[in-house]
Amino acid sequence: MTKIRIRKAERLKGNIAIQGSKNTVLPIMAATLLSSGVSVIYNCPAIEDVSVMCQLLECLNVKTQMQDNTLWIDTTRAEYAPLPAELTTKLRSSVLLLGPMLARWQRVELGLPGGCAIGLRPIDIHLQGFLKMNIDIRVVEDKVLGKSYYLQGGVIQLRFPSVGATENLIMTAVAAKGRTILRGAAKEPEIIELCNYLISMGALIEGVGTDTLLIKGTKELTSSDYCNVYDRIVAGTYLLMASAIPSEIRLTGIDDIHYIKNVINVTARLGVNVIRRDNALLISSMGQVQGGEFRTGIYPEFPTDLLPVLITVLAQAKTYSRIEETIFENRFSIVRELNKLGATCEVDDGIVRTGGEVELKGTTLCATDLRQGAALVVAGMLSDGTTLVTNIEYIQRGYEDIVRDLQRIGVQAEYV
Ligand code: UD1
Repeated sequence: MTKIRIRKAERLKGNIAIQGSKNTVLPIMAATLLSSGVSVIYNCPAIEDVSVMCQLLECLNVKTQMQDNTLWIDTTRAEYAPLPAELTTKLRSSVLLLGPMLARWQRVELGLPGGCAIGLRPIDIHLQGFLKMNIDIRVVEDKVLGKSYYLQGGVIQLRFPSVGATENLIMTAVAAKGRTILRGAAKEPEIIELCNYLISMGALIEGVGTDTLLIKGTKELTSSDYCNVYDRIVAGTYLLMASAIPSEIRLTGIDDIHYIKNVINVTARLGVNVIRRDNALLISSMGQVQGGEFRTGIYPEFPTDLLPVLITVLAQAKTYSRIEETIFENRFSIVRELNKLGATCEVDDGIVRTGGEVELKGTTLCATDLRQGAALVVAGMLSDGTTLVTNIEYIQRGYEDIVRDLQRIGVQAEYV
């Protein structure tokens, strides 16, 4: 089944249990390579990106097994192997194996990473950091080749707080000789979770949650288990969706509300009322979005991953909106698809303008990346009649079962 059919949603009511975080679990899966033994990851989402990361680990003779959202990873007999481009191009996070492979084997050959087509996505910040740790690393044709006679901690200043580069460099520094000072580091929740996981393995990291990390390398890392946090982008998708449709919904599994405060603040401006009760968010809204000025940014600003859903809910607001994207230069494929529904979205120089009380009418839409794909499903819920979203394999890379979740709050959605 490669399509999702959705009918206009008049009202949302019910509970959704939010799946475990994709962007947290992928670096933690890579980090298991830093020790020999069995690690168990609880609340692991059953998504395509996790299966591809398992396949990459299996190329390194790591055993993986997933059952009921629990993932076992056994690195006891891990063996060095080059990682082929056929697999690495399926996933941006394949790049996160660079650091752990260098730490374990002092060498790496990895096909260039792939991932969503939302901009150039270079890896120069990763490579410049590795060079500071006595690693000879370069891109040759479609591969990254790296080696080091001994990993040495260093002082690294990131030119931009790249999430992936911060993760890669932390995972290398925890096993390098001596101290590393990482300045200008990303501070996303995924980094905090990774640091805490590494600390549970025996790593020595100070400054967790700040932009300066002090890491003392150790050879004593041991395997450790991890209970994954909720996916703040999936939860954010449903929060934003509630702004445009009269809603009374409950999102469960929200173990740390701080990680999603940035989205709650934006949805409050859109007329959504959120109450926290234990590990749940109780969400109510009249479904009447007001336009305004918004921008994405590095954490704790509004996440770029939710830009397509934000544009979607603002597309049919009574007043106009201006939305600025500051992280990726080409994250606007949603605009063309929304206009097929009758929206009036324009994009110019990283800024989207939309809104003005338009009537959206269902049609066939094409997913071209993960977050845009989820936004198209939301667009279908706001459009008269029926909408068909094609190429849903993009959505399945990150959403465990978006149709199941939406059916739980009364949406007429199905796979076809
Ligand atoms: C991660 C998230 C992704 C999110 C993004 C920004 C995962 C698996 N993915 O992606 O969902 O949208 O953070 O919050 O966690 N850049 C460079 N050179 C580099 C690295 C990055 O120029 O070496 C640029 C990128 O092109 C982009 C910006 O920095 O414009 C942010 O990228 P980065 O933070 O690295 O994103 P990812 O780690 O790929």
